[in-house]
Amino acid sequence: MANPSILILAGDGIGPEVMAEVKKIIGWYDAKRGISFDVSEDLVGGCAYDKHGTPLHDDTMAKAQEVDAVLLGAVGGPKYDVLDFSVKPERGLLRLRKEMDLFSNLRPAQCFDALADFSSLKKDVVAGLDIVIVRELTSGVYFGEPRGIFTEGNERVGINTQRYTESEIARVARSAFELARRRNNKVCSMEKANVMESGILWREVVQEIHDKEYPDVELSHMYADAGAMQLCRWPKQFDVILTDNLFGDLLSDMAAMLTGSLGMLPSASLGAPMANGRPKALYEPVHGSAPDIAGQGKANPIACILSFAMALRYSFDLGDEATRLEQAVEKVLADGVRTADLMGPEGGTPVSTSAMGDAVIAALDASL
Ligand code: IPM
Ligand code: MG
Repeated sequence: MANPSILILAGDGIGPEVMAEVKKIIGWYDAKRGISFDVSEDLVGGCAYDKHGTPLHDDTMAKAQEVDAVLLGAVGGPKYDVLDFSVKPERGLLRLRKEMDLFSNLRPAQCFDALADFSSLKKDVVAGLDIVIVRELTSGVYFGEPRGIFTEGNERVGINTQRYTESEIARVARSAFELARRRNNKVCSMEKANVMESGILWREVVQEIHDKEYPDVELSHMYADAGAMQLCRWPKQFDVILTDNLFGDLLSDMAAMLTGSLGMLPSASLGAPMANGRPKALYEPVHGSAPDIAGQGKANPIACILSFAMALRYSFDLGDEATRLEQAVEKVLADGVRTADLMGPEGGTPVSTSAMGDAVIAALDASL
């Protein structure tokens, strides 16, 4: 049987640096566990624009549709700010999400014990935190029509449209309920049903799917603004948070920061099952391309490494190996290995991106 396939799209900024550490880990699985992947690489974002004049070439899009999993680093950078909106690096990522139909974006926010002091919140508020935001990723105001900048009378008007169909809400709700069943069985759905019709429909459909198919899961609803407040007041009240594309974008950045560093958090974007039963999938760190530190070997590769762990779990049915990798990361952090973003007020000497990757490899070796 052919090896499972991975397409690596390292992208821009720190993307290639953090992805280099993931490649080492893929190599480790091949050498030490006999788990091999067919890895190919291509361009996305600004680097694709530089080469092809588009942030995602059609050939790359076609490859992404064929592989078992896509691993993405990051896209964007100040150099590309001047580009027309239609070819900005972010459009490459959004096209991948849309055309692969990756409607369910899982963004875990987990606070590692060794880093509980790094949060801007009090330690007891975040220690042991383990929640997942399920963000709808292929619809809502990110993609709704009409959109554009138009002229009305003597002024311009910018328009975006929040639009959700019942089936779009239902499928992402199911994925949140399924996930909750494998965790602590609680879903809190967030929208703005007090001001938006799309929010009213969202709340109704989530409740219907719950009552019909997942009555065993505890479901609550919150307005997204109140949800943001509760997230920083007492985040441990949550297990799975289900929300739309735009609210999910905001809430997941906030949840990420609760854990002390944006450099730690992975994500999985999942679509409908393929012929082999596994979902179409793209894995990427929640952090961006961090142009200010790109090319300096300072970036924290852990979010990208943990994104690969999610790939092991969700695309390759290797949950035990995912846990092995997650535990290796935990051990490295417990041992005090720190990249620059994890330096507390007490200071210390940060390790480089590649030294962090090497430390994870050493911990993997020790796990055998
Ligand atoms: C994210 C990012 C993206 C988004 C950008 C890069 C298009 O902020 O994945 O959260 O807005 O979805
Ligand atoms: Mg975001």
